[in-house]
Amino acid sequence: MKIAVVGTGYVGLVTGTCFAEVGIDVTCIDVNVKKIEDLKQGILPIYEPGLEEMVLRNVDKGRLGFSTDLASAIKGCDAAFIAVGTPPGEDGSADLKYVLGVAREIGQHMDDYLVVVTKSTVPVGTAKKVKQAVAEELEKRGSELSFDVASNPEFLKEGAAIDDFLKPDRIVVGVESEQAEEVMRKLYKPFLMNGHPIIFMDVPSAEMTKYAANSMLATKISFMNDIANLCEIMGADVNMVRRGIGSDSRIGNKFIYPGIGYGGSCFPKDVKALIKTAEENGYSMQILKSVESVNENQKEVLFNKVMKQFEGNLTGKTFALWGLSFKPKTDDMREAPSLVIIEKLLAEGANVVAYDPVAIKEAQHMIGENDRVAYAKDEYEALIDADALLVVTEWPEFRSPNFQVMGKLLKNKVIIDGRNIYEAKELQEMGFAYYGIGVQEVLPVIETTN
Ligand code: UDX
Repeated sequence: MKIAVVGTGYVGLVTGTCFAEVGIDVTCIDVNVKKIEDLKQGILPIYEPGLEEMVLRNVDKGRLGFSTDLASAIKGCDAAFIAVGTPPGEDGSADLKYVLGVAREIGQHMDDYLVVVTKSTVPVGTAKKVKQAVAEELEKRGSELSFDVASNPEFLKEGAAIDDFLKPDRIVVGVESEQAEEVMRKLYKPFLMNGHPIIFMDVPSAEMTKYAANSMLATKISFMNDIANLCEIMGADVNMVRRGIGSDSRIGNKFIYPGIGYGGSCFPKDVKALIKTAEENGYSMQILKSVESVNENQKEVLFNKVMKQFEGNLTGKTFALWGLSFKPKTDDMREAPSLVIIEKLLAEGANVVAYDPVAIKEAQHMIGENDRVAYAKDEYEALIDADALLVVTEWPEFRSPNFQVMGKLLKNKVIIDGRNIYEAKELQEMGFAYYGIGVQEVLPVIETTN
């Protein structure tokens, strides 16, 4: 089989590469010439574990190609996946100009029956617009070619995208014809060896499924963050509460970890977009509005704890940050809580020394030049003479550090842990002041070790 994947961002690149991995002939297309030239040489625009090796292997085998020329790549394809960006417009709704632009180009150049698949997360009703755009272009050409649209949302997690694609929990496909269903079933057959289902449905339901899934997950997180904040006030420990409720199989133990708010490219954008879609259609998503506002507040809880520990005076103080990306195993800084924390610390006159295993370059790009923000070469260097450590992202290498060394490097033995990766009691015994999320803080008097 042969496919084209348009858009070599996160979703497109993973999708194209994984399809090539199972033997399908794939061309990934992008308008960005530099990106395509880089990809041809195995230089990837994003960091995703395992992806680089997989790209190189499939390019080498001749199953994966990169091109800026959609017109040629589309010839003879069974399906074209549209995986270009849908940046949020000023009002929060997804901007479809790239998606529809690609649809038009496909209509101008396709040469046989084709399934045009929307893979980017797009509002309910987009496949219909794609269909219209392709049809209009065919008509302009006087072409009688037939085609179908399909909606095939992705559920990839950054940092685990390849595994998620190769061994999906489920594949959701919205189709309008048996012929399209047949093509999609054939394409995905190699990924269903683990017995997990491919669920066919109508197109609007498939489009809605993506938003409902992400919104439900965001809701779980905001709910737990709300509970965590109340636990702190009431003398409870959210780690215990989480285990207590997670063992109920109706609730489940995943996605109920409190923290400093969800970030990334999906949850914030998708929650906003669904609220907006509802509004445009005369309905108000009450729960999601609260999910969003709880999340905004949660990005500030770490900063509020810093203010509490230092009694509102941060001028001239230095804070070590461990982790910058919105979650571990990615360099993605989009909507990262670290950005809010850094901004608030700087506004109070503090200095920041940050370390992240892979996201420093991205962070520098987003934060820009600032005399009061420095980047350390490893996690321990970041601690030298810092007034406190703030754990922002739960990278595995931060989980079991040498607390003795940390105590010596830090000016004050204070740890403010936004991801609950340490045990309050253990740290108290080692003489640290410790703040977690939804747990009771332990507050030895600030002790100067040097
Ligand atoms: C998410 C969805 O999981 C995926 O299905 C969809 O396709 C895209 O959006 P991703 O953005 O890669 O994937 O991140 P994910 O691992 O789901 O985490 C999202 C955010 O939630 C992170 O900021 C994370 O720190 C936070 N989170 C997650 C919590 O705060 N608590 C949890 O228990 C789980």
